[in-house]
Amino acid sequence: MTIKRLVIASHNKGKIQEISELLAPYHIEVVSAVDLNLPDVEETGTTFEENSRLKAVELAKISGEYCLADDSGLCVDVLGGRPGVYSARYAPDRDFDKGIAKLLGEIEATHSDNRKAHFSCVVALAHPQTLECQVFEGRVDGHLLSHKQGSGGFGYDPIFVPDEGDGRTFAEMNGEEKSKISHRGRALAKFVRSLEEWSK
Ligand code: IMP
Repeated sequence: MTIKRLVIASHNKGKIQEISELLAPYHIEVVSAVDLNLPDVEETGTTFEENSRLKAVELAKISGEYCLADDSGLCVDVLGGRPGVYSARYAPDRDFDKGIAKLLGEIEATHSDNRKAHFSCVVALAHPQTLECQVFEGRVDGHLLSHKQGSGGFGYDPIFVPDEGDGRTFAEMNGEEKSKISHRGRALAKFVRSLEEWSK
């Protein structure tokens, strides 16, 4: 299978940029749902996989093109894995300064010193004719700071320090450094490996 053009089923600028950068070497034209005026599909599922599948399939149906969707979120140990699939909606007005403040307030209220958290990501590729999906998963473990550090990235990046890094938050890394170890980078690396397999 050769994919010449891929629609990213997202309206999230941070995600679109990371996915586009990662796919840049593969000679695939990458366009987003925003570029094509496609709708932002409502996430009615309860798992990352369910949501990524439904976003990819819905937009493949509407556009008639290969669609790639990412559903991801931050899972905090002391909050029983929340906000998880609800990470985007957890932030009041989708404002992540407010979202981070709310999250740190909730963690503080537990009086626990457990700061462990992980990001999860499931990427789904939907085929335009069959509407069948292939899914690829990625995860990165780390801990949360109690204050923001760095101005790069998006979402909860300024408080997340990955275990495999050098103590910097994702917001203090450039896109390439983050993607090497991030949940999204790992899920997309699996997707890219399968593209390479298909094109053999
Ligand atoms: P959704 O996949 O559209 O439901 O949104 C996922 C939400 O999880 C984003 O809006 C962010 O709040 C958060 N999130 C997912 N990936 C990242 C990341 O790489 N950095 C920071 N926040 C993220």
